[in-house]
Amino acid sequence: MAKTTVALVGLGAIGVGAHLPALRRHPDVDLTGLVDVDAARRDHAAALVSGGVPTFASLDDLPAVDAVVVATPPWVTPVLARRALERGSHVLVEKPVATSVAEATRILDLPRELLDRLQVGLTYRHDPAIAQLKTWVEQGRLGSGPLLVRAHIYDEVRDESDATHLALIGATLEHGSPALHEGSHVFDWLSHVLGAEGRLEDSWAVRTAPGLAAPNLVGGRLLHPNGTQVLVEFGWFTAALPPCELTFVGDAATVRLDGRTFDLTITDHDGEDTVRFEGERVPRSFDRQLDAFVRSVRAGSRRLTPSWDDGLRALAASEALDRRVRETPATVDGGRWER
Ligand SMILES: NC(=O)c1ccc[n+]([C@@H]2O[C@H](COP(=O)([O-])OP(=O)(O)OC[C@H]3O[C@@H](n4cnc5c(N)ncnc54)[C@H](O)[C@@H]3O)[C@@H](O)[C@H]2O)c1
Repeated sequence: MAKTTVALVGLGAIGVGAHLPALRRHPDVDLTGLVDVDAARRDHAAALVSGGVPTFASLDDLPAVDAVVVATPPWVTPVLARRALERGSHVLVEKPVATSVAEATRILDLPRELLDRLQVGLTYRHDPAIAQLKTWVEQGRLGSGPLLVRAHIYDEVRDESDATHLALIGATLEHGSPALHEGSHVFDWLSHVLGAEGRLEDSWAVRTAPGLAAPNLVGGRLLHPNGTQVLVEFGWFTAALPPCELTFVGDAATVRLDGRTFDLTITDHDGEDTVRFEGERVPRSFDRQLDAFVRSVRAGSRRLTPSWDDGLRALAASEALDRRVRETPATVDGGRWER
């Protein structure tokens, strides 16, 4: 069988840093195009791949391909995903699929058969650590009753000497709090591992500096149908960050998922055991995600997963928390507390 022709659209941090290496490693992929509106990004990506992969400034200039990976910001992504689906390609689209469910459904107002050709980049659902955690929860290894889950998601240290990063995070906050940008992955892990959606009960927000377009430390509490309580925290853009980790506390055992490595530590009456999976978390998950995508495309699967609906559900949960925390008034103004 011939290789699957794939183009990569969006040659920024995650496009070049994670998708491009995964595409180059995959034995059944023929990378036939690199697309970005930014000429410097196109040149940079082209220099990383041997064999002269052609570059394009627009998806519209790209010759027909079996599949497209879209790794652009969420305010651009749905338009490009729609165009790629209408051109007849399968699409692996980065999360979040848009900045809101309303935008996503307005722009991707397409027949179900086309939407089923889209896989959402809920990358870490493919990781063996998430699968192991789900198995432990399902088998009652943590206990048979409700759990307490603490998700502490911290990223994007503020470095005053890195003007590019300061500008990127500043602009990204204009489109939503860290809950919107980080939430898709986390809410997807939670509903996938716990087997149900949680309902947002309350929320809080802190702006650690004036002038931020959205609060940078935010959180909420979700109640799951079986009584499990989930306390989520998302934090960006402080000079130092607390650990990024998820803890699942049950009557019989506690499990800690290290947010950086995805090492799993389970502690119970008999002691502590740490499970480490082969390879580094990011390349491992991107390889597995791409492999699931390519295998589905080659097998002619009728519905790719994580599906468009999974992406919308994860976005809806992030958006609900983001909306609530953005309604919270700024608490710091020029160093003075506002009342
Ligand atoms: N799956 C993950 O683990 C993961 C990790 C990081 C980021 N992301 C997501 O990936 C997306 C991209 O993030 P990033 O950090 O790489 O952003 P980035 O800003 O570094 O890169 C985005 C790229 O898209 C290009 N672009 C913008 N409009 C375009 C258009 N119309 N046509 C072609 N190219 C266009 C930009 O020029 C830029 O090169 C975001 O939605 C982000 O949430 C996912």
